Amino acid sequence: MTNLNEAPIGVFDSGIGGLTVLNALRQTLPQESFVYLADTARIPYGTKSREAVIQYAQQICRQFIRRHRIKALVIACNTASAHALSTLQQEFTDIPVLGVIIPSAMAAVNVTRNRHIAVIATEGTVRSKAYEEAITALNKSIRVSSQACQLLVSLVEEGWLEDDITDSIIQRYLKPLFSGDNTPDTLVLGCTHFPLLKPRIENYLGKNVSVIDSASNVAKEVFSLLEQRQLLSTVHSKPTQFLVTDSPQRFIATASIFLGEGLDENKVQHISV
Ligand code: DGL
Repeated sequence: MTNLNEAPIGVFDSGIGGLTVLNALRQTLPQESFVYLADTARIPYGTKSREAVIQYAQQICRQFIRRHRIKALVIACNTASAHALSTLQQEFTDIPVLGVIIPSAMAAVNVTRNRHIAVIATEGTVRSKAYEEAITALNKSIRVSSQACQLLVSLVEEGWLEDDITDSIIQRYLKPLFSGDNTPDTLVLGCTHFPLLKPRIENYLGKNVSVIDSASNVAKEVFSLLEQRQLLSTVHSKPTQFLVTDSPQRFIATASIFLGEGLDENKVQHISV
């Protein structure tokens, strides 16, 4: 075993959404150390061009490799996975680079019975058609209906997880997808911010629709990839390092509630990429 086994896994998102993936990673891989970057200066990614998101993702990965010597990268953001996964995999051939779209697509394909899957995501992810491509590559007979729900990202960043306004916006976005005949029986939360709204979304949809979020499937994939490459850590994990590209206060407030872990200015570092 080399020191590489003890190196951290880099995880990034535009904001706190990727913490849903980080949580699953920490549960599945308790011996691993993580460095989490929230690109809060440039959130939202969902409204940016493909070229801009690719550039952000490259800058973050370069920084992770240079400063933190990461042994693997998890793109804990659907928008960045949709636009930048293949570019990052081509540029950073020395480390495994994983995105969140394929694990979610696989989970949804396994669950649907009526072969109609709905996807809610950011504008950028919907525009990219990455989910349609991933789902139909697995099963051509499946119909995919997508809806961009960009406002939900802001509500999550604001910490409005249980709020009448959030409920009515969820309803406004979901109603057209789930009205009429042969509506989807499966909904993919195609943005890592949305699992934070899962209870409210499930409450609106009722029991007949399965709601899929990718976090645990991504974590299992990371585990098997590290195992295959003999990169699993054999020592105790170090505390997660949190990095933000804008002032830490806003991130600390919302992230602490979500992680159930008291974050403070000593644990969250402001960096520029
Ligand atoms: N959490 C991100 C995603 O999964 C991006 C949200 C945003 O920055 O627009 O797409």
